[in-house]
Amino acid sequence: MNLFNVYPLYNVVPLKASGCYVWDEKGAKYLDLYGGHGVISIGHSHSDYVTKLEGQLNKIGFYSNSVQNPLQVELANKLGKLSGCEDYDLFLCNSGAEANENALKLASFKTGKKRVISFERSFHGRTSAAVAATDNLNINAPINLQQEVTFLPLNQIDLFESEIEKGDVCAVIIEGIQGVGGLDEGTTAFFQQLEKVCTKNEVILILDEIQSGYGRSGKFFAFQHHNIHPDIITIAKGMGNGFPIGGVLISDKIKAKFGMLGTTFGGNHLACAAAISVLDVMEKENLIDNTNEVSEYFLKRIKEIPQITKVKGKGLILGVEFDFEVAEIRKKLIFDKHIFTGGASNKKLLRILPPLSVAKSQIDEFVDALKEVLNDKK
Ligand SMILES: Cc1ncc(COP(=O)(O)O)c(C=O)c1O
Repeated sequence: MNLFNVYPLYNVVPLKASGCYVWDEKGAKYLDLYGGHGVISIGHSHSDYVTKLEGQLNKIGFYSNSVQNPLQVELANKLGKLSGCEDYDLFLCNSGAEANENALKLASFKTGKKRVISFERSFHGRTSAAVAATDNLNINAPINLQQEVTFLPLNQIDLFESEIEKGDVCAVIIEGIQGVGGLDEGTTAFFQQLEKVCTKNEVILILDEIQSGYGRSGKFFAFQHHNIHPDIITIAKGMGNGFPIGGVLISDKIKAKFGMLGTTFGGNHLACAAAISVLDVMEKENLIDNTNEVSEYFLKRIKEIPQITKVKGKGLILGVEFDFEVAEIRKKLIFDKHIFTGGASNKKLLRILPPLSVAKSQIDEFVDALKEVLNDKK
């Protein structure tokens, strides 16, 4: 059987990983400033995480959501405390798309309406309503296009207000900081107005923190830079440090009802153990403080590179923009310098999403390598 060929692959075979490094089948070592697409939060194969997962697997790996699972309660309590979002309820699922799918469904249940407002260059996943709310026609099949979604530019509040006032909108979905699109974000004034207009019109405000959350922006959630209180927050990626898990944080505006949401695998014992370990390590190693410290250092050092026209993002969800396309540079960084970085739909931008435990010396490694690659390009 062949694999269904949907991914253009780099010819690298990582077989081992530790901290911010991965090793290929020939033993070559790579610096991982991509975190497997913003997923590795506490570092690859962290020893506490490995011990926790091994221990859990030796006890019980899975049972269904029809019985008590105290690990889900432990995870919800820890997450509430560490994120400052103790006044939300938690629903556990398996991926980012599934989190957004459930969030949109809750908004529609609550309001009885079905049109969604999303933003230009947004990415919310590849399933039914989540992909319809993603600003990329190439990944929407006709079946997805039956969803009613309106895409608006970021930071244009008047346009937003006139759409909402039409009265048929159930949800507004927005990334704390855009990931796949290329690190654009709403201003504080825009986020605060979004919240105000949504509340006034009884529309559910969904903050997609799947990429920008879990400490990556330098606060637990990126929206916390703007002092707002969304109705729903969605999470995945860094939450499990590679173990598939997602979640929906739901404010008390929306009341739970048996059968309203559900999943076979969501919140299973192994996934909860992984997510609990991530929060424990984040707290023990002060990874949000490290994110802010290393980010500041990155922003200082990156100024040494004159070819960069703009640096976008916050914390360790960063984009460096050039006035030319970066595909060749990304390739050279991987194959000549052994450094992974990310791309974006903005083809002139390199995305930097390292583990939150990355060290300043590893930023030095990157900046020096990037300088050399850019000099070779001349
Ligand atoms: C902001 C955002 N939302 C949703 C998703 C979808 O997550 P998943 O691939 O886990 O379904 C992604 C994935 O890149 C994302 O970056």
